[in-house]
Amino acid sequence: MTVKNNAVPESSSDAERRRQYYYIDRCKGILAEKEKDAGRKLTCHVETFGCQMNARDSEKLRGILEEIGYENIESEEADLVLYNTCTVRENANVRVYGRLGRLNHYKKGNPEMIIGLCGCMMQEAHVVEKLTQSFRFVNLIFGTHNIYRLAELLYQVFTQKGMIVDIWQESDVTVEELPVDRMYAFKSGVNITYGCDNFCSYCIVPYVRGRERSRRPEEIICEIGHLAEDGVKEIMLLGQNVNSYGKGLDEPVTFAELLSKACRVPGIERVRFMTSHPKDLSDELIKVMASEPKVCPHLHLPLQSGSTRILEKMNRRYTKEDYLELVRKIREKCPDISLTTDIIVGFPGETEEDFAETLDVVERVGFDSAFTFLYSKRSGTPAAKMENQVDEKTAKERFDRLLALVQEKAKKSCARFEGQTLPVLVEMKNSQDESLVTGRLANNITVHFPGDESLIGQIVNVRLLKCHGFYYLGEPA
Ligand code: SAH
Ligand code: SF4
Ligand code: F3S
Repeated sequence: MTVKNNAVPESSSDAERRRQYYYIDRCKGILAEKEKDAGRKLTCHVETFGCQMNARDSEKLRGILEEIGYENIESEEADLVLYNTCTVRENANVRVYGRLGRLNHYKKGNPEMIIGLCGCMMQEAHVVEKLTQSFRFVNLIFGTHNIYRLAELLYQVFTQKGMIVDIWQESDVTVEELPVDRMYAFKSGVNITYGCDNFCSYCIVPYVRGRERSRRPEEIICEIGHLAEDGVKEIMLLGQNVNSYGKGLDEPVTFAELLSKACRVPGIERVRFMTSHPKDLSDELIKVMASEPKVCPHLHLPLQSGSTRILEKMNRRYTKEDYLELVRKIREKCPDISLTTDIIVGFPGETEEDFAETLDVVERVGFDSAFTFLYSKRSGTPAAKMENQVDEKTAKERFDRLLALVQEKAKKSCARFEGQTLPVLVEMKNSQDESLVTGRLANNITVHFPGDESLIGQIVNVRLLKCHGFYYLGEPA
């Protein structure tokens, strides 16, 4: 049986999908008229501000806009610009406000321009209030739960006066199988869960993305099958905490089971996943990772802090020892695995001793890379009200020390494949040197090597000649 035959029974989302195709058609007609008036093709631009899930949403938004008839362009000087926002840290918000000023400037030269904002930041009431009061040139605001309704909302923009604002607090319907414009022909993200139930005390995501919902496995496998038929070789299963996948389904399925199934889809060569929460990472998953050659030997395992005292305040539900033990177990079964992580510096109440525990874990684990963040106070989260917020200067000073150690360790760790020949999935032409192409090893490390455009999307064996910190220079083997 081929994957396509996995018939998915009709659900409320099917009706919603049909409704959106109706609005896509209506918008198509309106846009065609507008193009006739303008005497040219109308253009769109969708800008991603956030994580992989945000980027996947942007592909869906772009897919709908292109289906309506817009031509997607790189520049923000387009007839429709949509900012898909992120609010995980304050600087993400600041960036959006800053760039809106520039969009307003473009709009002055093109009064018909449509400016839309969506994504996580829009789920915060104070943001929408500010926008509706002080950014009146924005035409459309919607949130994270109704992105699939873009065509319907755009129809309102086309046919009604004033700013259209539509934010939902929750949603139990997920609507898939609408048009998608993938960034890459050969790789794709695949949503497996939406939302998050973990409520780490610093984090805004559960408030702006809602409760955790798992997509049904047959629906996910069906989507992967279609992607493979369309030439996709690498997929990344996406969720805020993929390890808790399956809860609440009629027939609960574990993430490890789903991962095995994904590997069985013909045509799929590499399977990645993001993000793993240490508290839910099972032995069953480690077993699948060790035994299934298509699962990439890369695990992104956010540590956040090395101090058990701080981890408790963060509501992470593991200790420093639990984390180290997990790493030991994983490395025992998957010795070559590349481990990467996220770390927050300056969480409220973090002392020099707590910070030393973080450095100790970095020292002991030797991550291949780590995203390090200065703690950012998000209003509405429990941590925002905690006492002893760390002053900026101390946090910054710790951040710099952490970064130096992370880089030193990563450099050593990444170099361990020097001299080996390994498969590289070629992603693009090198941006600086025309004679090179750039791709990734299965463990996610970047490799540059001589080649031309024809290799893009191919998996090529490359001899890794020299490691330059975080990337390799190689030659085709
Ligand atoms: N679901 C993922 C993370 C999503 S957010 C997980 O649990 O690992 C991505 C990263 O942003 C987090 O891992 C964390 O390190 C960082 N982050 C989240 N909230 C933050 C905050 N308030 N300040 C600084 N960094 C934060
Ligand atoms: Fe945020 Fe924690 Fe959920 Fe990750 S697991 S999204 S850090 S609340
Ligand atoms: Fe940002 Fe939302 Fe992702 S807040 S990190 S875009 S889930």
